[in-house]
Amino acid sequence: MSRIVYVNGAYLPEEDAKISVFDRGFIFGDGIYEVSAVIGGKLVDCEAHLARLARSCGEIRLALPWSTAELVAIHEELIRRNALDEGGVYLEVTRGASDRDFPFPKDVTPTLVMFTQARNFVNAPAVKTGIKVVSTPDLRWARRDIKSVNLLAPVLAKQFAAENGAQEAWMIEDGVVTEGASSTAWIVKGKTLISRPLSNKVLPGITRKAVLAYIAETGFAFEEREFTLAEALDAEEAFITSATSLVMPVTTIDGHSIHNGAPGPTALRLREIYIDFATERPEGPSFPPCEPAQRPVARASVGRGSRRPDRPLAVHQDDRAPGFRSGTPPVCGP
Ligand code: PDD
Repeated sequence: MSRIVYVNGAYLPEEDAKISVFDRGFIFGDGIYEVSAVIGGKLVDCEAHLARLARSCGEIRLALPWSTAELVAIHEELIRRNALDEGGVYLEVTRGASDRDFPFPKDVTPTLVMFTQARNFVNAPAVKTGIKVVSTPDLRWARRDIKSVNLLAPVLAKQFAAENGAQEAWMIEDGVVTEGASSTAWIVKGKTLISRPLSNKVLPGITRKAVLAYIAETGFAFEEREFTLAEALDAEEAFITSATSLVMPVTTIDGHSIHNGAPGPTALRLREIYIDFATERPEGPSFPPCEPAQRPVARASVGRGSRRPDRPLAVHQDDRAPGFRSGTPPVCGP
């Protein structure tokens, strides 16, 4: 059976789905995308992804004609029509189709395309071995906080990784690791998990945000700061987070073994906690998608058994990039 995809209001077999050659997503990369995980046929944290979508669209002044509820309904209908148990739903919205000219066209209708991808990531074989990472210069633009469909630099970085037997590339700029080509980068030092602060230099990861709320369960502290490649090579553990990898241990960086080349216990524990969260509370964490920034609290104590905190712990919850407030304000939730 052919996969059913969604294009501008219609559910169609993939071979019948078409968009214009003049679509600005195709011509200029003038569009935004999101990927939400599906586990056990249920969406994971989809509203947080849609809040980030609204925020990205606001930043490029692309008015979204759909409500969060409408977009969730399309996600769910695609999952149903494709009998998707595990995988992801890809969403892309572009400024629409118009004769090629750089400024925004007037009276154009945005294009909305969505499709599912089946993938077994909960029991992915890579969890047992960990993944290999290679470093590469960060060639991206200055607004990486916007989830733009302009992905040429990550494509080149991933290809470089693939050609070097690795599954992810960590991009380096000004001597520090920015993030993975399609994931958030983390290291573990002593009893502390380290990931860099949110800014225009990185995408505010939805998985990062969910994981932050549960770090206290590992007994570790969280330090939000930049780290160098040298520090990563010397770390006790390294891992990535994303909607498609969940929490994935990294076992080599540039051919150098991390944690003796075996997946680290902290990454594995966080993965377990995250999958619990994703499967037991598929509608998302118990905090709203965007909240005002909070001061980080080191080592917030939540014992085992209190898996579902009523509020987030030890986190910066502000998804917005400091210094970039010019566009439409972010829309959080429906
Ligand atoms: N990528 N950083 C970058 C550059 C990313 O592209 C992604 C996600 C992340 C992690 O974000 P999240 O936790 O919200 O998935 C960080 C998606 C999965 C992709 O491009 O396929």
